[in-house]
This record gives sequence, structure tokens and C-alpha cells, in this order.
Amino acid sequence: LNDRPAPASGEKLFYLPIHDVEECFKGERLLVVTDERLAELFGRSFSGSKLLVVPEGERAKSWHSLSSLFDDFVRLGVDRSWNLLALGGGSVSDLAGFAAHLWMRGISFSCAPTTLLAMVDASLGGKNGVDFRGYKNALGSFQRPECIFCDVSALSSLDPVQFASGLAEAVKHAVIDGESYFSFLESLLAEGGGAGAFSHPRCGAESLKRLVTESQRIKLAIVDADPFEKGRRRVLNLGHSFGHALELETGLPHGFSVSLGMALALRYALRGGLIEDDERSRILRLLAGFGLPVDLSLLADGALRARVSASLFMDKKREGATMNFVLPRGIGHVETARIPVEALRSFLEEAWK
Ligand SMILES: NC(=O)c1ccc[n+]([C@@H]2O[C@H](COP(=O)([O-])OP(=O)(O)OC[C@H]3O[C@@H](n4cnc5c(N)ncnc54)[C@H](O)[C@@H]3O)[C@@H](O)[C@H]2O)c1
Repeated sequence: LNDRPAPASGEKLFYLPIHDVEECFKGERLLVVTDERLAELFGRSFSGSKLLVVPEGERAKSWHSLSSLFDDFVRLGVDRSWNLLALGGGSVSDLAGFAAHLWMRGISFSCAPTTLLAMVDASLGGKNGVDFRGYKNALGSFQRPECIFCDVSALSSLDPVQFASGLAEAVKHAVIDGESYFSFLESLLAEGGGAGAFSHPRCGAESLKRLVTESQRIKLAIVDADPFEKGRRRVLNLGHSFGHALELETGLPHGFSVSLGMALALRYALRGGLIEDDERSRILRLLAGFGLPVDLSLLADGALRARVSASLFMDKKREGATMNFVLPRGIGHVETARIPVEALRSFLEEAWK
């Protein structure tokens, strides 16, 4: 196995085919949480394990799914000797990670991410949770998985929209990390068929593997230094306050919402003279080149704007009359700022004109 040592409290990364993952738990009890589509695609690779199937996408992240999982745990007699594996995208790992953390005060939890977004971001770092009464990720905890099993070939069945969604998190990592990863991502546009036409089948397996490992390196370095998001880890929320509000209110895929959230943060930074226009344009070009939305006028509908705005100010990053907002100041230069809610509200009204 091509593994890397786990950091003190963190996850171990393995790169191996999905059909070999079950073998890693040989002699142990394995419970696999997955969604309907993935049970069909990959379920037969787990014929010796118990498979629990949850709804696809964000619908998995509900109180109802959580309590159904616990009903299954009772039925199966799951105790602390069991291992729980999330086989799927971020929706499955967010739900399963939370269930694993709560059950009997914690059972062993690992992930086999099947979306690009989960490989580069959602499966790492231990944030988990479900939505509750219109609040995105309102219930959740921090509990890092033990192992992450990555098989980039599993991404070949992913549709282009979901693939692009994962690229948004990779761009976010590049904006945080700096020029080297950012220009590597730019080089993929040429390899993948040019701006707007980038897709997984056109991107070589080696490039894809490098993208996954670089993003993982960047995210894990930040999480290892600040596992409970008391400081630096907050930069990983770039584009996410607005993104989460959009995702909930529009049903746009996570990465599409985050892309628009980054576009908004870039506009805020430009207006305050915090970023040069050519740096901002370069980031927007990369997002758009990957087929991600950056045009805020997409949100033309007044009623939708009101709902997104209301949802934004219910976000976890709000602290009383201020919000922790992540501001991109350039490629490799991202910082957090406390911005008065009223200032953000009037900026939003202006940005949406
Ligand atoms: N915990 C974190 O740190 C973190 C970080 C980022 C995002 N998230 C969360 O992740 C969720 C989004 O997850 P996601 O974008 O990975 O998608 P997802 O889990 O919602 O899945 C999207 C769709 O893709 C399908 N799919 C997954 N893998 C496939 C494959 N290999 N082939 C074909 N179809 C496949 C699924 O069945 C589903 O229909 C959001 O709820 C978001 O909040 C969490």
C-alpha cells in the first residue's frame, strides 16, 4: 500500500482500488454507509460487509437519515468493535462521520471518497454533520477519520457537473497556498481541452492524482495546525458562508455555490482595495475555465436574493453583530476579517445590482 504516515491526530491516506478496500478490514466487522447510486456502482466490492444505503446528495444529511442509521445500528447490534466506512461523496461522509462519532461515544470511522470534492476536501479534516431546519451543517462535530482510501479511477463515472464542483475546492486550496499549485491548475486547462471544456476524461490520470495529492497536502497541513478551527483553519471557509446559503436555497452543487461565494469575496476585497484587479481576474478565469459559475447576476431573482441573504446571516460564522469572513488578498494570501453584518448586508445589495 502506498501510504503516508498519519499526523499525530489525523487520517492516514491510502491510494488503492476501491475493490481492495474491504480487504484492509479483513477479520474485522465492517459497516459501509453509501448512497443509492454508489451501492449500485461499487456495492459488489463490499460483498462481505453490511451495506447501509442512504438517499443521494444533500438529502442524506438529515436528522431523519441519522436516526434511520441508528435504527440500523440497533438492528445489527453494532458495538465499538465495528468499523464504519463512508463510501461516497461529502454528503455520505458528513452523515456517516457524525453517526460514527455519536454512536456509543465513537466507533472507528474511515472514508472511501468517490467524488473529487470528497477526495480533495470533504473526507479530510474531521468536520461532519447534518442540516437541521434550514441550517446547513447545524448539527455536527469534529472527529477525524482513521483512514482515507482514494481511487481516482472511481471518478470516471462522476458526471461533469460533480467533477467541476470538486475543482472549486481545489481552486480554493490554490488561492490559499500560492503560485505553484495555482499555475499547475491553470496548466490543466490546456491539457483538459481549454477554458470551459475541462473534464476528467481529458485530464490525464497523473495530473488528476497530482491534483488530489496537492489539495490533500494543503488541507491537511492547515487542519493539523488548527484541528478545531480556532484560527488559521478558518481560511478554508473561503467562499463558504455565502456558498452554504446559496447551496441551501438554490440546490446548486456545493462547489458551484462556493465558486460564486469566492466571486463575491473577491468583489468585496477589490472594493476595499485589498486585492489587485489582475489577481482577481486570474482567479475568476480559472474558476470559469473549469466550468464554474462566477457571475453574480445569475442570482437575478429578488425573492431568491432575500432568502440567500437571510440564510447567510444565520451561518455559523456569524458572531453577534459581526461575521468572520474570509478575504482573498492575492494568490497565496488569504486572511479572515470580522465584518459588521450591516456592512455585509449593504455590500450584498450593491453587489447584486
Ligand atoms: N466535511 C467537510 O469538510 C466538507 C467539505 C466540503 C463539502 N462538504 C459537504 O459535502 C457535500 C457535497 O458532497 P459531494 O459534492 O462530494 O457530493 P454528494 O455526496 O452530495 O454526491 C453528489 C452526487 O454524486 C453521486 N456520486 C458520487 N460519487 C460518484 C461516482 N464516483 N460516480 C457517479 N456518481 C457519483 C452521488 O450518488 C450523488 O448523487 C455537501 O453537503 C457539503 O456541505 C463537507
